[in-house]
Amino acid sequence: MKITDNIKYIGVDDADMHLFESQYVTPDGMCYNSYVILDEKVAVMDTSDHRTIDVWKENLKEALGDRQPDYLIVHHLEPDHASGIAELCALYPDLQVVCSAKAAQMMSQYFDAPLNVLTVKEGDTLSLGRHTLRFIMAPMVHWPEVMVTYDDCDRVLFSADGFGKFGVYEADADDWACEARRYYFNICGKYGTPVSTLLKKAAALDIQKILPLHGPVLEGEKMAEAIRLYTIWSAYDVETEGVFIAHASIHGNTAAAAERLVEILKAKGCPKVAVNDLCRDDLGEAIEDAFRYGKMICMASSYDAGVFPPMYDFLHHLDIKAYQRRRVGIVENGSWAPSAAKTMRPMLEGMKQVELVEPVVTLRGKMKDTDILQLDALADAILA
Ligand SMILES: Cc1cc2nc3c(=O)[nH]c(=O)nc-3n(C[C@H](O)[C@H](O)[C@H](O)COP(=O)(O)O)c2cc1C
Ligand SMILES: [Fe+2]
Ligand SMILES: [Fe+2]
Repeated sequence: MKITDNIKYIGVDDADMHLFESQYVTPDGMCYNSYVILDEKVAVMDTSDHRTIDVWKENLKEALGDRQPDYLIVHHLEPDHASGIAELCALYPDLQVVCSAKAAQMMSQYFDAPLNVLTVKEGDTLSLGRHTLRFIMAPMVHWPEVMVTYDDCDRVLFSADGFGKFGVYEADADDWACEARRYYFNICGKYGTPVSTLLKKAAALDIQKILPLHGPVLEGEKMAEAIRLYTIWSAYDVETEGVFIAHASIHGNTAAAAERLVEILKAKGCPKVAVNDLCRDDLGEAIEDAFRYGKMICMASSYDAGVFPPMYDFLHHLDIKAYQRRRVGIVENGSWAPSAAKTMRPMLEGMKQVELVEPVVTLRGKMKDTDILQLDALADAILA
């Protein structure tokens, strides 16, 4: 696949990858992107995951024809992109591996053979002939060694994991945001500040195309929309007005109250109410929606003098992903000594600028008419 006259796509779809990073369900698989720049010098941009390395080598061979690569640019050392480095170096002994100082330092953790490494820093350039590559450090846009590359000839940005998404290359052709958002918040969510910093550096460049390590190449309106969303996401701003309800219910009474609360919120004119059953639905989806909406209500059964574990797990995930700047309500259910709120409250209060909305509602088993009045009051308070 041709990206520009001199840049070829040599990435690989991994349609059978259904649990990316041993954690994220990926029903549409995954792709590991890699590119080749064919100029007076030849640069290979990243490699592939070990699962797809043979197909990647075939793609590379085809793209190279009778040429030999001069440089391997390593943007990110995570194994889903870096599994071919040692092999490629063995195949082409003159090949120079170009990466950040941090990546160079980490290289020996993954590869035994000493590699021929050229370390680059912020703003360094490398001429391939017509194409000059400019390296931009992007520490913690997933890992500390990450950098991105701007090619001022074709005006493209190799963006590493930034602007990536779940799914094979062609998946969700008309809806980039859904799986890109789930990818962003689950994988980069904690690193909003580094992502913002990278966006600011990128804003100074004339970028015609973004070439990420996962998901489709972005250009035109789709690229503009992706940048708009990344600006919101990295700032932890609200993308969509509405309320997200996350519930964890053992026997279904709390879940029934959640359904009732959806009705109440809609009747009050809430523009959007999203719901996740933390016991059955994808946790990654719940994390995505917690960040997407400005308001959240957590509803859970009490459990062994604490909170039902699916809710505990969810709040723990939000905490490590730096969930912040949101209004949150709590509903608990308990049959003899309700304890869910007591556990949820400090977890939420520990998060940056999370404002707890009163009343905290306590249900006892089945929802009663008096509970509905309480849910109504909570709905008013969260919408206020
Ligand atoms: C293993 C287990 C532990 C529980 N621990 C508590 C508890 O510590 N305190 C309490 O009030 N209820 C406890 N419950 C009762 C649940 O909170 C009960 O299911 C809830 O009040 C009803 O809501 P639900 O139908 O949404 O689960 C426990 C239930 C189970 C199955
Ligand atoms: Fe990564
Ligand atoms: Fe990746």
